[in-house]
Amino acid sequence: MKNAVFILLFLLTGFQFATAHIKIQNLLTENRVNPVGIDIANPRFTWQLASEKRNVCQTAYEVTVKLNKNVVWESGKVQSDQSVHVAYAGVPLKSGEKYTWQVRVWDNSGKVTPMSEAAFFQTAFLNVSDWKARWIEPGYNEDDRLRPSPLMRKQFSLSKKVLSATAYITAHGLYEAFINGQRIGDAWLTPGWTSYKKRLQYQVYDVTALIKPDNNAIGVMLGNGWYRGVLGYLNTNIYGNDIALLCQIEIVHTDGTKENIITDESWTSSTGSICYSEIYNGEITDARLDKTGWTSAGYNDSDWYRVKIAAHPMNVLLATINEPVKKHERFKPVKFIKTPKGEQVIDFGQNLVGVVQMKVSGKSGDKIVLSYAEVIDKEGNFYTNNLRTAKAQDTYILKGGGEEIFEPHFTWHGFRYIKIEGYPGELKLENFTAVAMYSDIKPTGCFTTSNNLINQLQHNIQWGQKGNFLDVPTDCPQRDERLGWTGDAQVFSRTAAYNMNVNNFFAKWLKDIEADQIDGAVPYVVPNVRDPRDLNSAGWSDVATIIPWNMYLVYGDKRLLELQYNSMKAYVESIRRVAKNDLWNSGFHYGDWLFYSPDDDKDGRAAVTNKYLIAQCFYAQSTFLLIKAAEVMGFKEDATFYRMLLSKIKEAFMDEYVTPNGSLVSGTQTAYVLALNFDMLPKELREQASARLVNNIKSYGNHLTTGFLGTPYLCHVLTRFGYSDIAYQLLLQETYPSWLYPVKMGATTIWERWDGVKLDSTFQTSEMNSFNHYAYGAIGDWMYRTMAGLDTYEDGVGYKHIKIKPYINEAFKSVSASLNTYYGKISSQWEIDGDKLTMNVEIPVNTTGTVFIPVTKIEGILEGGKALSGVKEIHIVGSESGYVILEMGSGRYQFVSRKD
Ligand code: BGC
Repeated sequence: MKNAVFILLFLLTGFQFATAHIKIQNLLTENRVNPVGIDIANPRFTWQLASEKRNVCQTAYEVTVKLNKNVVWESGKVQSDQSVHVAYAGVPLKSGEKYTWQVRVWDNSGKVTPMSEAAFFQTAFLNVSDWKARWIEPGYNEDDRLRPSPLMRKQFSLSKKVLSATAYITAHGLYEAFINGQRIGDAWLTPGWTSYKKRLQYQVYDVTALIKPDNNAIGVMLGNGWYRGVLGYLNTNIYGNDIALLCQIEIVHTDGTKENIITDESWTSSTGSICYSEIYNGEITDARLDKTGWTSAGYNDSDWYRVKIAAHPMNVLLATINEPVKKHERFKPVKFIKTPKGEQVIDFGQNLVGVVQMKVSGKSGDKIVLSYAEVIDKEGNFYTNNLRTAKAQDTYILKGGGEEIFEPHFTWHGFRYIKIEGYPGELKLENFTAVAMYSDIKPTGCFTTSNNLINQLQHNIQWGQKGNFLDVPTDCPQRDERLGWTGDAQVFSRTAAYNMNVNNFFAKWLKDIEADQIDGAVPYVVPNVRDPRDLNSAGWSDVATIIPWNMYLVYGDKRLLELQYNSMKAYVESIRRVAKNDLWNSGFHYGDWLFYSPDDDKDGRAAVTNKYLIAQCFYAQSTFLLIKAAEVMGFKEDATFYRMLLSKIKEAFMDEYVTPNGSLVSGTQTAYVLALNFDMLPKELREQASARLVNNIKSYGNHLTTGFLGTPYLCHVLTRFGYSDIAYQLLLQETYPSWLYPVKMGATTIWERWDGVKLDSTFQTSEMNSFNHYAYGAIGDWMYRTMAGLDTYEDGVGYKHIKIKPYINEAFKSVSASLNTYYGKISSQWEIDGDKLTMNVEIPVNTTGTVFIPVTKIEGILEGGKALSGVKEIHIVGSESGYVILEMGSGRYQFVSRKD
């Protein structure tokens, strides 16, 4: 009987838990799902809450962290609505351990959830002294013409049972590692690209499943990658002449003892089938040279060379914080083309970045050459001139004797087409697959409309991002460049953060920015592989302030802002040092790169903007963002100091670049856009300046003329000053220069230039004509933020307080956007049917939304069929400039109204 009461009580309590309105899901540690390899002392936890009910939020939480069965942190019940980035505050973490954590929360109805499922994180090496391994290099003299990929191996036997095995690996160059014939992990191009001399990331893998009870072998293959070989324009071997490996496998036996397998003098080295590999030029593989079985135990390596021990610094090593590059979408050929020149070409239908996998059977020694191109020229031939000196070619020499599969290991290409030479036998399309490669960042955003051209534009923006988010944000993925151009990344960062979760991707790169700053000045490319004096170009170097602020805004990542604060401040100081009378009017600047400029400019129609005017605007903006960061951080003195500086910068701008009547010395769209967007003009001059901007646009027949720096803000400025109709006209403009011109010309990615392909199908100069350059894709931010109206407020960053304010335009029947935030999915959708306007809105649990309905009469709005006054979750704030403003808690809402 006693037992029965107990069971009944248990069931009742269980029942009560089960009916709590909240489900806890998507547990993240340092923004990743169950990460292996964290070297942060106090990692942060994020959990997401879901509920079918409306107006649900968290009022308290309790986090428990355990190492094995032992509790190492119990937060206790914390009265707080924080569910994102809650920092660990328990006993100091130990290296190489797997911690589990759980959370339970209390909601605003007073109910508590059961403990969530357990998530885990595994620590990396928290002390340099944890590294027992030594750097090793090939023990033979490398052929320094082709430099075949070195292979390095070691056999080891284990006498005791294995509980777990963890591999810590990095390289100078790139590595691909195997244990007992099986590849370790599914990351590519590891260890990725950082400012190697100062920061080198290592990866951590759970390899327990790959280890055998007795005899084992580890084999690692190296490639040049970014480390040595050709990179940038003139430079070879930027980081060093020799590539090297560092690897440590920590084995824990079931009896609790530990054993390390480390790179040391006992390893052997040789070369294999990869005869040559370079990022720009591609790979040459001679399968006849394959050392079959070299990654397995029992392979006879008696003719291999002992490795050399190298002394490389260990204090630059860091556990990887960003998502590694992985293989993603696979494309089958859509078309075979026999070109007028007689070339055999395959079209994959999408400009993408990655590799081609090829199946082939033939004789030993048969040689196939695959060349990669983004476009076919006017005559219909394969076109590679725009790759400049990048050879972009893979060569495969067959071993013979059955089907062989080729794919390169240490290179990648930007392409839509491949040209195939030397394929033995019948060329079957099914033997070719294009595989897209990019950082394994999760897609978060979705944007669709009733207009297919705009949908294609969004597709192109997303593919521009996929192609250029390959461990670092690059300008382009195909020609002899592929560098971390700061300006390009800066202009695209906010758009990028809608499409995918780029929190850790940028957090890692921002640290390289800081590492490569010289006296605060920021290089044009990061990691800096140019002349170290190539510093501080306006709009490029401002990456140091703009991206940290954007990441803080969209992910609520205060720690990132904190970590970048010195870098931000040092950058502003580097300008202040050279500014004369508060004017930044010296040094080299790229200016409004690739602005509109007609071929034969007799009339002076080229949209040239004074570069120092631009510099002054960015000087102000960076100072402004520094002030905001100082305010968030509570650095009052800094905030006061830079506020004074900012007003002087603006005064200097007015004196130097604005006439008393409010005309700018450059009459371009970019000049007005920057001046207005960054509030360079006093309030009383803004209206007329925006009218001048509109007149300028009209004078070009409703076309934009902006380059890299003006483009991201153009439509925002127009919207802000009441010209959203003009912004829509620019968006929908189909003739050059416009966003839709490339779409109409068949683009599947964003082009570097507004007219990469001209109307007569000829190309812009091959000197600079990338067909996969995300910068102009920065319009994506306006599409999500203004057309769909999906934004975050600064008083609740990271979409804790959501703003939904769509700008409706009748050129569209519907616009729909969604965004997976740390809190959950937000969506904003509108649809026009005659004079009926429907808006569907989704606000995640533990957030609030301020929603603007674009009508003036509150009475005319129905939510879920009811008058607003009858919906208790909605608070009517009032109406303002053509909108009714509502506030609400979480939930799905449908608003129907009649247009005014
Ligand atoms: C790159 C750009 C970059 C620019 C500097 C180009 O070669 O591809 O995107 O920002 O140089 O202006």
